[in-house]
Amino acid sequence: MNIIGISGSSVKGGNNEKAIEHALDRAKEKGFETEKIKLSEKDIKGCIACDQCKGMKGSCSIKDDMEEIRPKLAQADGIIASSPVYFASMSSQLKAMFDRTLPLRREDFKLKDKVGAAIGIGRSRNGGQELAIQAIQNCMHLHGMIVIGDNNHFGGTIVTPFEEDELGKNTVDDTVDKVCDLLEKIHK
Ligand SMILES: Cc1cc2nc3c(=O)[nH]c(=O)nc-3n(C[C@H](O)[C@H](O)[C@H](O)COP(=O)(O)O)c2cc1C
Repeated sequence: MNIIGISGSSVKGGNNEKAIEHALDRAKEKGFETEKIKLSEKDIKGCIACDQCKGMKGSCSIKDDMEEIRPKLAQADGIIASSPVYFASMSSQLKAMFDRTLPLRREDFKLKDKVGAAIGIGRSRNGGQELAIQAIQNCMHLHGMIVIGDNNHFGGTIVTPFEEDELGKNTVDDTVDKVCDLLEKIHK
């Protein structure tokens, strides 16, 4: 089974990339195949609402890195998305990516029943990590995904720097464990 981890930050080597690396290493230890998507390396333009994907299911008029990301998401069993908290929500980079998954929704809900989870990373305690997580989970719900938290609260919540937030790292670990456990139950 395959889990994709998406880092929604533009900062190369930053906290989100570290968190996704950490999460996927844990999934790998449990025998899952993993793949990282770092938005810091991707060119993803905003949706222009041309509605081409409405008429021609699955197709998008904008040719950028979403052309390779969409099929990867469509073949994943689980998706873990991490975002820096920007003004108490997810980053515009990650939102642009989710907006550009509309062709997958219009192609008979290609992300339906995939297990989804989120990580929110902010500089402040109570900086809006849960709001960023909720924004990500809302997108996942619109795809008909099976959205989970950390078995206790809403998902992975980190106060930067990632390396020093031991409590936060536990929430990331618990989130990954729940994604893996649920996938194992579903595919038994
Ligand atoms: C435009 C902008 C808005 C931000 N808004 C918040 C915020 O609302 N709450 C918060 O805790 N941190 C906020 N931050 C700090 C970032 O969330 C934090 O630096 C980020 O998680 C670091 O992740 P990265 O190293 O992967 O980029 C903001 C940073 C930027 C650049």
